Amino acid sequence: MKLWSNSASPFARKARIVIRELGLEARIEELDTVVSPVNPNTELAQRNPLMKIPALTLDDGATLYDSRVICEYLNELNPGSPCFPRPLDARYAALRGQALADGILDAAVLVRYETAVRPEALRWQEWIDGQKRKVYLALDVLEAETATSEEPFDIGWIGAACVAGYLDFRFPAWDWRSGRPRLSAWYERVCERRSVAETMPR
Ligand code: BEZ
Repeated sequence: MKLWSNSASPFARKARIVIRELGLEARIEELDTVVSPVNPNTELAQRNPLMKIPALTLDDGATLYDSRVICEYLNELNPGSPCFPRPLDARYAALRGQALADGILDAAVLVRYETAVRPEALRWQEWIDGQKRKVYLALDVLEAETATSEEPFDIGWIGAACVAGYLDFRFPAWDWRSGRPRLSAWYERVCERRSVAETMPR
């Protein structure tokens, strides 16, 4: 299988962490893929008309997207993995955590495009502030929900690790650790996992 991804994308990172958590590295080649909201990647477009990463091309040639679908598919290759717990309450807590993390990433990536891609004269500060507000409010929820243990490292917490890594990478000045000691300490421990260490954004 081939994973269309790159080392900067926090959504691709979710899939890259799940691959390593499940020991699927030997079955999946990671293709370094350039994406941009303004320059179409025509090769990727043949597989994913949305031209977004991650996308996963299966052995039969079919391609899956987005990160949620791909992570669930990977989990099915190793059923019983803790990434998507089976008991209903735990599963939906993990899925809600994934939605929270994806929402933070959506807002942060929009700010990234607004500030790094959109011409300066067209930037809209109130809109940027609105996205940042979502990020900070959601980080406060993560702080409140952070457990003292790094387990379970389910899809919700994998998403949270991708959030922390992406904010460090693109928005160090936002200082997400400030006032969030539990989440900061949790992330420091989680960074020692091979799956997280090997997929640090670059
Ligand atoms: C980034 O470079 O920040 C980025 C790359 C791919 C997807 C989203 C964000």
